[in-house]
Amino acid sequence: MTDLITRDAKHVWHPFAPLLGQADPLPVVKAEGVYLHLEDGRKILDAVSSWWVNIHGHGNKYLAEALYKQALEMEHIIFAGFTHEPAVRLAERLLPLLPGGLEKMFFSDNGSTSVEVGLKLAIQYWHNRGEKRPKILALEGAYHGDTFGSMSLAGKSAFFEAFNDYLFEVVSIPYPHEGKEQETLDAFEKEVKSGDVSAFIYEPLVQGSAGMRIYSPEVLERMLALAKQYEVVRVADEVMTGFGRTGKLFASEYMETAPDIICLSKGITGGTMPLGVTCLSSRVVDAFRNDEKAKAFYHGHSYTANPLACSVANASLDILLDDGVKNMARIEESHQTAISRFENHPMIRSVKCLGTILSMEVETGSQSSYFSNIRDRLYQGFLDQDVLLRPLGNVVYLLPPYIISNEELERIYSLILEQLDLLQSELQNQG
Ligand SMILES: Cc1ncc(COP(=O)(O)O)c(C=O)c1O
Repeated sequence: MTDLITRDAKHVWHPFAPLLGQADPLPVVKAEGVYLHLEDGRKILDAVSSWWVNIHGHGNKYLAEALYKQALEMEHIIFAGFTHEPAVRLAERLLPLLPGGLEKMFFSDNGSTSVEVGLKLAIQYWHNRGEKRPKILALEGAYHGDTFGSMSLAGKSAFFEAFNDYLFEVVSIPYPHEGKEQETLDAFEKEVKSGDVSAFIYEPLVQGSAGMRIYSPEVLERMLALAKQYEVVRVADEVMTGFGRTGKLFASEYMETAPDIICLSKGITGGTMPLGVTCLSSRVVDAFRNDEKAKAFYHGHSYTANPLACSVANASLDILLDDGVKNMARIEESHQTAISRFENHPMIRSVKCLGTILSMEVETGSQSSYFSNIRDRLYQGFLDQDVLLRPLGNVVYLLPPYIISNEELERIYSLILEQLDLLQSELQNQG
């Protein structure tokens, strides 16, 4: 055990894992391009953009320089009663790129808070208008973050069992499984028709944490059109899908009916600084356009619109709109070509691609589950070959930084196939 691991074990608590029985964390000393450099000299290929964040890879000099320059000018200021150029510039540049002609941007510092803000604004929208709409709709399998509001949106999730008694009620609409879309639409229509629904919150086209579940734009379009018809506030959680992940800058661009609110974080600064933003249509803003103190939005985080984060977000946008877009198309092409190699493997149940996301469900003989042992077996198998892939249960997926080369993609595809072969022979030997 190295000195760093010993010190870590004594005082540090890592996310999303039991406290005991886990492998030691791997000490990273440098991150560059698509690689994490470990203390012992190993180089790990980061095929998941470090939790879907580092869209331009690691150690990007352009982002580092933007951060450094901004730090010399102004590191942080209070955003209540004051403003600054990096925040205004980001809002001016980002809002026109989003579908639906959004008007204003509210700043926070991570994905969960961007959703929390979207949800609170959707609820207060009705409150300010003096109307009661008690219900909120979310899709079954949704994941919107770890704060209490966003946990509530996930319904009764195994992750949040300890908190179930403290979460508010949300109506969970059946996930639109292929061939069962009508069930989803019927349940959705029944709810929105009641006139009781304030908001519908959704991860457009792909549910990330539920296992990179990719669903059809047609069914989402029909839900959004119904929501619009019954004046339900549409809240798109693009925390994971935003900034090119699905092949368009934002997944909401695949649909005709735009959201009223879009929540963004993760890729927004290319992984250099934490930042969340919630982008709002004039329809929502109008409900707050008055000088009554009782109707103001009383919400703000200490690091709201942090100038360092805003400057880096502007720089990240420069890269995205230039090399980023070209690389996104190249990665999608590579994934599309690779699909047939996975489809024909006996250990693969299904494989789907959406933009830079490639997701495949591994055969387990039983239902997909996050707690499936196959997850740990595959995670370790990939890591032993110096590739970071974090299967979600029995779903293996790639969400690479956009700078990844075709050769590096090929290395990952080959490794997955190799591990599936191994898994197949292990299962045959067992059974
Ligand atoms: C769709 C979606 N929303 C919200 C979040 C929460 O973001 P954060 O972890 O930054 O709080 C996540 C995180 O994975 C996510 O995938």
